[in-house]
Amino acid sequence: MFWYGEKILEELKSQFPLQDLFKSLRTPGKHLCLRVNLLRASPEEVIDELEKAGYRPYQHYLSELVCVRVEGPFEIPKLEKFVVADKRAAESVLMGADLYAPGLVSASDLKSNEEVSILAERTLEPVAIGKVLVSEIPRRGKVVEVIKSKFKAPKFRELRAFEEGKVYPQGALSAIAVKVLEPEGLVIDMNAAPGGKSFYAYELMKNKGKLIAFDISKKRIQKMKEEMRRLGHRFEVIRTDSRYLDLDFPELVGRADRVIVDPPCTAIGVIPKVWDEKRDDDMINAYKYQIQFIKVAHKLLKKGGLMLYSTCTLTKTENEKVLGFAQELGFEVVERDTPWGKTPIKVNPLEHGEPGFFISILRKV
Ligand SMILES: C[S@@+](CC[C@H](N)C(=O)[O-])C[C@H]1O[C@@H](n2cnc3c(N)ncnc32)[C@H](O)[C@@H]1O
Repeated sequence: MFWYGEKILEELKSQFPLQDLFKSLRTPGKHLCLRVNLLRASPEEVIDELEKAGYRPYQHYLSELVCVRVEGPFEIPKLEKFVVADKRAAESVLMGADLYAPGLVSASDLKSNEEVSILAERTLEPVAIGKVLVSEIPRRGKVVEVIKSKFKAPKFRELRAFEEGKVYPQGALSAIAVKVLEPEGLVIDMNAAPGGKSFYAYELMKNKGKLIAFDISKKRIQKMKEEMRRLGHRFEVIRTDSRYLDLDFPELVGRADRVIVDPPCTAIGVIPKVWDEKRDDDMINAYKYQIQFIKVAHKLLKKGGLMLYSTCTLTKTENEKVLGFAQELGFEVVERDTPWGKTPIKVNPLEHGEPGFFISILRKV
């Protein structure tokens, strides 16, 4: 079920057959990918470990992107006994993750070792069958171990290569967005956490350029720093409101060769979804927020410097309209080749079997 505001529906309808789009948003992308940490490993050794673990990996789009197909959909019955998971947990369980206490919304009387269906809250759609591990609802820890889920995703976090920081699970779109920016010189990431784009920009520069990453969220920065330790990355991460970088860090004004703006958005392209709800105001407020980063990015860039503006949503307001704003401000659109066509490009699950994602490169004139 998709509860979207009228304006959002209008914008989606003008680009896609709506029912087909909703169906595609309920399905995961065709694969999940690992980006090989170029400073620590080769694609070959990662492929080798994946094969030994029983997967059938393939390099896709870039030699350092190693992907594994998502299997499914499988039929999931609705058993008499069930537990209900919140949206976020249900979307993970749908892909094969176990259910943990924070994601549990309600449960019929729990009996250890009993088989239950895991249902998504609101729609009560069964997303998996699992075995109950507890006899009363705990405050934390695993509650249901999944036996069979609607889709089966590779368990990348169990690999030795993951533990050793040789790989970072990253969507192909997110990686390609950074690749086409061609990071060099001083790179400023204005919305960096949890870090996927920063990590790749850092690796592509091979210690030659300088990266400074900013984000406002303490929790997300904490997670990013943990990942940096795992990957062996060393660059500055600063907690701040990037809408005021020009005022708080005046020494950066006019100095950046590259800026990454990957701001909060309505995330309509993030898949799979068990359901979604977005009001028109969510989209309009997101637009107002997004253009504030664009204004500051323009101030930070050198003349001729490049900005990556990307989102994981499909609305025109948050993509094409933001681009229009940027052009009025003094940016020009740069065409770069991607596996799906030239930038600016909106990749979508219907046509491409990938999550919805917008990539644009703009030059400060
Ligand atoms: C789409 S996520 C970024 C994902 C990240 N670029 C990556 O590839 O992993 C958007 C980020 O913007 C951050 N954010 C939101 N408002 C912000 C602000 N005013 N200043 C800086 N960061 C902000 C959020 O905390 C969130 O981490």
